[in-house]
Amino acid sequence: MKTTIKNIGQHVGQEVLIEGWLWNKRSSGKIQFLQLRDGTGFIQGVVVKAEVPEQVFETCNQLTQESSIRVKGIVRADDRAPSGFELTVTDVELVHLANEYPITPKEHGVDFLLDHRHLWIRSPRQRAILKIRAEIIKAIRTYLDGNGFVQVDPPILTPSSCEGTTNLFHTKYFDEDAYLTQSGQLYMEAAAMALGRVYSFGPTFRAEKSKTRRHLIEFWMIEPEMAYCTHEENMAIQEGLVQHIVRHILESCKLELKAIGRDPKPLENVIAGPFPRITYDDAVKLLQEKGHDFPWGEDFGAPHETEIVQHFERPVFVEKFPAKIKAFYMQPDPDRPEVVLGADLLAPEGYGEIIGGSQRIHDLELLKQRFDEHDFGDAYNWYLDLRKYGSVPHAGFGIGLERTIAWICGLDHVRETIPFPRLLNRLYP
Ligand code: 4AD
Ligand code: MG
Repeated sequence: MKTTIKNIGQHVGQEVLIEGWLWNKRSSGKIQFLQLRDGTGFIQGVVVKAEVPEQVFETCNQLTQESSIRVKGIVRADDRAPSGFELTVTDVELVHLANEYPITPKEHGVDFLLDHRHLWIRSPRQRAILKIRAEIIKAIRTYLDGNGFVQVDPPILTPSSCEGTTNLFHTKYFDEDAYLTQSGQLYMEAAAMALGRVYSFGPTFRAEKSKTRRHLIEFWMIEPEMAYCTHEENMAIQEGLVQHIVRHILESCKLELKAIGRDPKPLENVIAGPFPRITYDDAVKLLQEKGHDFPWGEDFGAPHETEIVQHFERPVFVEKFPAKIKAFYMQPDPDRPEVVLGADLLAPEGYGEIIGGSQRIHDLELLKQRFDEHDFGDAYNWYLDLRKYGSVPHAGFGIGLERTIAWICGLDHVRETIPFPRLLNRLYP
């Protein structure tokens, strides 16, 4: 019976057919150990010379790494096997004999691996990360769909910027200038006035000349936006979302977390209680006490974020940043207009900002003032309309998918969190 490695436990004692690939092989003359993979998992197949037709053993002899094969065998439970099962092979059909495979079990440099990303994703570690990515996406959707949010898809080609003009990808839209979206937020504000609670889920683009372990040129962002919502309520939704993601991954990806060597303890801490909050002012004081030469009014860099989160086991909200270092749309604090009703959520273990969010300016006159400071022209007239026809307090946030994955998986760099990373100087494959 045809099955998958993932479901093989349902067939102990029976003969099954697995369609997959050989990712490694060991031989001791009379016995061959085939490491098989089929996309759903990994399992060892044992081929005993005395127990299979001669031509089957011969086929196994000539198999190269990554050859595609159909394997029949009897399923045996085996406590020593990582998957808990082993296959006693009865037949092997060669589908394609692979050429000499460039990625061998030895160490390769990261540039070599990225050049071969189309093959690298077959490795157990990369497969596990991509599986966790898919489960994180599922958890985000389940949480938002279950909390009354409706998915709305903003455009990718846009006439203007959302987060500032310095990192826009320019293109031509027939005779007009156009840009790849860096955030769908402004459109999501319009959608929230139509549907109440909405979220977008799509790729965003930033032409940033940053070569750090946190920056991608193309990354995926989920942007929830809520009508009649305050800064406080906004943070509560973020906390609920992040805890739901972590809980889901701890439950559904045990094998994958093990495959990548991720210690689940720090993740268990994340769901054990509420997320701490610290104001920008107090974060600056904390940095100064720790010996950083950091003036009020500057934006945090990666080392500062790492220092701030070091004092906490869970993600930390840093709230009420100076207005002048944040985007034009953020609502000023009525008690102290030089700071805004917004927060960044910093992940623990030095992973830095995974969410940026805020309450939005809903007053037309105030928003116009901010526009004059930025010299925006007519490109945003439609956005001003939202403040003319039933304007309400509203808030939202953007969670970066790849930074969230890097943190949950405990990775050194976001380049492993996305199937085909777009990095500074890398558009291939
Ligand atoms: O803080 P950002 O720029 O916020 C916005 O774009 C808002 N419009 C979101 C909103 O309120 N609707 O980006 C949000 C998140 C960051 O916290 C980070 O996780 C991720 O997007 N991000 C990146 N991830 C990978 N590579 C990059 N270059 C990123 N830039 C931002
Ligand atoms: Mg930000």
